[in-house]
Amino acid sequence: MCGIVAYVGHRQASDIIIKGLKRLEYRGYDSAGIALLNQGLNVYKKKGKVSELEAFIKGQNLSSCIGMGHTRWATHGEPNDENAHPHYSATKKLAIIHNGIIENYNSLKQDLLRKGHRFLSETDTEVFIHFIEDIKEKEGCSLDEAVRLALTKVVGAYAIVVMSLEDPTLLIAARKGSPLVVGVGKGEFFMASDATPIIEYTNEVVYLNDQEIAVVNKGKLTIKNTANLPLTPYVQTVDLALEAIEKGGFEHFMIKEIFEQPRSIKDCMRGRLDSDSGRLVLGGLRDYINKLVHADRMIIVACGTSWHAGLVAEYFFEEFCRIPVEVEYASEFRYRNPIVREGDVVIAISQSGETADTLAAIDLAKSKGAIIFGVCNVVGSSIPRATHAGAYTHAGPEIGVASTKAFTAQLTVLNMIALSVAQRKGSITEQKFHELLVEMENIPIKVEKALQLNSQIHTIADEFKNARNFLYLGRGYNFPVALEGALKLKEISYIHAEGYPAAEMKHGPIALIDEEMPVVFIATKDSSYEKVVSNIQEVKARKGRVIAIVTEGDTHIRKMAEFVIEVPPTLEPLMPLIAVIPLQLLSYHIAVMRGCNVDQPRNLAKSVTVE
Ligand code: G6P
Repeated sequence: MCGIVAYVGHRQASDIIIKGLKRLEYRGYDSAGIALLNQGLNVYKKKGKVSELEAFIKGQNLSSCIGMGHTRWATHGEPNDENAHPHYSATKKLAIIHNGIIENYNSLKQDLLRKGHRFLSETDTEVFIHFIEDIKEKEGCSLDEAVRLALTKVVGAYAIVVMSLEDPTLLIAARKGSPLVVGVGKGEFFMASDATPIIEYTNEVVYLNDQEIAVVNKGKLTIKNTANLPLTPYVQTVDLALEAIEKGGFEHFMIKEIFEQPRSIKDCMRGRLDSDSGRLVLGGLRDYINKLVHADRMIIVACGTSWHAGLVAEYFFEEFCRIPVEVEYASEFRYRNPIVREGDVVIAISQSGETADTLAAIDLAKSKGAIIFGVCNVVGSSIPRATHAGAYTHAGPEIGVASTKAFTAQLTVLNMIALSVAQRKGSITEQKFHELLVEMENIPIKVEKALQLNSQIHTIADEFKNARNFLYLGRGYNFPVALEGALKLKEISYIHAEGYPAAEMKHGPIALIDEEMPVVFIATKDSSYEKVVSNIQEVKARKGRVIAIVTEGDTHIRKMAEFVIEVPPTLEPLMPLIAVIPLQLLSYHIAVMRGCNVDQPRNLAKSVTVE
């Protein structure tokens, strides 16, 4: 993972870099570091968050118009000051920042050790910059040529920036498998893992493609590929508002993003769905929609919360499109020699669009002849570029590490895809199609209503904040919601939680139930309501503490449960969009009460670019 940012121009680089690193902290926060050209090539780095680096460099003379910084999610080597980036080359004339993994670093390192190189860290990255310098000295070539030659020899994934003591206007960046954006300002350039550190200064950007190298030298940007072919930079305008990446008065990004959901769901449907005219159009899919209509089978690949969205989609697609669907963890799919045939369609779901396992699953499915659709949030990220077609979720930047608004936007897009296919296929009646369209348009208002439960959920959170375990149960469309509720809680509050299909409880988890065990039921009025009520009774009989998410006006469950949370009614296939809201709020409040860092939970990162 890791976040990288670099600047060259006429401003103070350190200010831009520190601010940029804070925006990229969602990508990792094990350590942070900065390199500046200021009477030498100086590197300052510290274990911990960017704020610790900031405290460390305070008061030092940081004046420099060129520099680069890094926030790390540790892969090679524990998080400490030595392993933090930037790393120096052997002569300390070069420095590098790197997001990714150099897989053949060990063999390169052995060669370099034989030549007398000494390493200060355990990282693959330090080996990389020594290797670049070694090539430069051996070949007597320019630095950008040495970087290019080194890139032809390394195996793995990278987004790097290299700077040199000998050239105060030079930054060299390259990518393969990890994202990198170059911001083009007036007489200044920015480089970063995403556009968030850049948009304050310019909205003109160039997204580097794999195997491309960007060289900024003396105020000019040139791009070439690793085969040494010059390329014309494709400058795009990013449509990203500064407010979207700031907390806007909320205490944490996560709660801001939870409360943004009425808007993000609406944005996701805007221009695509109109129940009055019966219009449902997803522009990005237009050329390929028939492939979906005629698909023999659909395989959904994703990780984490996106995988849960895939599970809901499985129910939806099978019910309305009558296409068999398999939902796979991308990390399993890629390594188990799966059967993928030409008539299969693969849907890859990813908030970041950068998840390494999902990207690898896409490559594998593509090599077997499948058509791939992407459902991603980050515009211009790697997955949308690796797929044949797709639809963005348009949820806006999601910064809290625990995914919330991206999940509901993913469900919204997947529902729209499924309905569009079902209509073309004739596997849904016009009446049902229309009913679902109308109700989809009502969802933002109902989510808004569910958000009004916030203070009630705060009270419930207070009651259970010290629990050591939690069980989440649901059936049908609400089963993936139970999984998502449990994931949210464990991610940010570090309480062990399990999600289970309610009916499966009797095959194991029931043994865990005693008077200490909170059990969250998603028990809305749907086709399995009566059965879920029986499961509540079973938990009650064993003295479990029941918290039930029910449909407004449900008086029956109120008599059994210790706490009920009433959500607005909706059609059964759309309930996940509403039922997940109280679960997001519950985990948020519990985590805050336990003093956890909700936006940056320990050991996690938002964009997982390593396998
Ligand atoms: C990480 C994040 C999760 C996310 C998962 C998949 O684990 O912490 O929030 O659900 O990656 O990420 P993606 O960007 O592919 O949806």
